[in-house]
Amino acid sequence: MIGIYDSGSGGLSVLREILKILPREKYVYFADNAFCPYGEKTPEFIRQRGRIITEYLMSCGADIIVIACNTATGAAISTLRKEYSGVPFIGMEPAVKPAALSSKSGVIGVLATAGTLKASKYLNNKGIYESDVKIVEHVGVGFVELVEKGILDGPVAEKIVRASLLPLLDEGADRIVLGCTHYPFLIAPISRIAGPSVEIIDPAPAVARQLHNVMEPRGLLHSDAGPELPDISLVASGDDASEKRILELVIKNINNQ
Ligand code: DGL
Repeated sequence: MIGIYDSGSGGLSVLREILKILPREKYVYFADNAFCPYGEKTPEFIRQRGRIITEYLMSCGADIIVIACNTATGAAISTLRKEYSGVPFIGMEPAVKPAALSSKSGVIGVLATAGTLKASKYLNNKGIYESDVKIVEHVGVGFVELVEKGILDGPVAEKIVRASLLPLLDEGADRIVLGCTHYPFLIAPISRIAGPSVEIIDPAPAVARQLHNVMEPRGLLHSDAGPELPDISLVASGDDASEKRILELVIKNINNQ
């Protein structure tokens, strides 16, 4: 069983990509929405939530855990890997590399939470490419709250997205890295505001491939014997109404492909 967690519904954007390549595994998705957003919380708080959630997911039978949250990955993945060495962890990382390697303007924009932009994991990664491209950053202010309310497009979403995205576009960014798993659910206003010459980069498809590559040699894939339909248990530390709605959208989206 694959355990996945995030501060709320953001990780469902990662689950969507995972289901495209591993549709027949069993999943338990934990939305820690009683403590959302993680973006402004201390690393120690996020690590402590990571321990509690890891133990819960393991008690459900998870034999691999995807931290489908950039903020939690930055704060907690190395601690969790040390403390729970029997279970492999897959984490998120803002996709600075593909953006830096493909940018034509020489400027890339990163949208992420304050926690991710301060994490040493991100700063180290950024350091590798900073001499090749200019990297401009902005917190997606209010983005997580929009997605948690299920507002994925429309005039309110447009206004909020514009305020954080325009400063990056004004600097000349032609690649926008989505460094928070909630943000892909705002792809409609983000793409509209950025326009066709700007590429939006989401690391989730690469994370899904990595998950497959880690599971295969360990014999953790059960795809052949698994159920016909996605088998997903959704658990939330708060009210799960919004998560349920977004999961329905994700499954509809996959079925229409
Ligand atoms: N979805 C999360 C991330 O990828 C966390 C957002 C938040 O709770 O602030 O960073």
